[in-house]
Amino acid sequence: MKVNVNGEQQDYRTVWMEGSEVCMIDQPKLPHRFEIYRSKDYRETTDAIKNMIVRGAPAIGATAAYGMVQAALEFSGNDMEEFSNLIHEAAATLTSARPTAYDLFHAVDEIESKLRKAKSVSEALELARKAAKEYADKSAERCKKIGEAGEKFIKENSRILTHCNAGALACVDYGTALSPIRLAKYNGKEPFVFVDETRPRCQGSRLTSWELIQEEIDHSIIVDNAAGHFMQKGEIDIVIVGADRIAKNGDIANKIGTYEKAVLAKENGIPFYVAAPESTFDRRCATGADIAIEERGEDEVLSMFGIDENGNPVSIKISPGNSKARNPAFDVTPAKYITGIITENGILTYSHD
Ligand code: MRU
Repeated sequence: MKVNVNGEQQDYRTVWMEGSEVCMIDQPKLPHRFEIYRSKDYRETTDAIKNMIVRGAPAIGATAAYGMVQAALEFSGNDMEEFSNLIHEAAATLTSARPTAYDLFHAVDEIESKLRKAKSVSEALELARKAAKEYADKSAERCKKIGEAGEKFIKENSRILTHCNAGALACVDYGTALSPIRLAKYNGKEPFVFVDETRPRCQGSRLTSWELIQEEIDHSIIVDNAAGHFMQKGEIDIVIVGADRIAKNGDIANKIGTYEKAVLAKENGIPFYVAAPESTFDRRCATGADIAIEERGEDEVLSMFGIDENGNPVSIKISPGNSKARNPAFDVTPAKYITGIITENGILTYSHD
């Protein structure tokens, strides 16, 4: 992705590996500061996923793949059984970080099953590095192809609504929902994006808007409750969102609030597309009801986070001291509300009974 660092245009991926460190764009610092966070071992990498320094389904998948390399690098012996035990423990730790995004499980499974084929520890170490790099490259390539498959849905000056951040920051590169929008911009279609702010973590207003600024894509941030109003007024032509997990019947889990946008889109006759790579499809999950929905801490709802006039991070309490809160991070949108799922292999549609 293009990033303007101190007035200079640079190319970045969301996550990569340097030596034994996993490097990632520090997302809680955005949009105010662009910094790189470096995790030293797989435990720190797990914490980075848990604390959302890196977030978004494909991005946490690639991060965990690199975390598996860090686990392999920790091993100093020659015994393959001991090595496998360590790898298995690391896999369990990494996948415990967040429950909903399937890419996390997909990535860790893929690296672990490749390592199982190694005959010696040194072979496994070499394999791990190669497999994780290939995983990240493939993930970026998948998102690029999602852009190519979905760009046709964006017409000249289309007005698109998106929810949460499903851009390059949520992936290794390109994004899922933002990938067709980027390509439409490169092709001169001048798309306009309505960015849901996406309370409580505000991935829309903090991250999606930041990405759109890097790409010079025109947009407005709207509060989460405003989408229905703009749909009713005929100001939104199409909705494109990402997904964290897709069930066999085409139900999808995505950031909390996606479901109501889908219902509103149907009510207003607006096409509602989901963009996701194959690594988000959980074939063992029959319907959306089987998807584990993460419930995060109350603080995210009861307070707001930002920076003060000196650029220092601050948290401001916005609710009565003794109010409780509920904070589901995702919801399930039934397949019947989804016009199509844009994947790297084309568009999928499901029966709408
Ligand atoms: O809680 P987050 O920020 O990890 O949630 C991210 C989303 O819900 C994205 O929309 C989703 O991962 C799909 S985009 C790649």
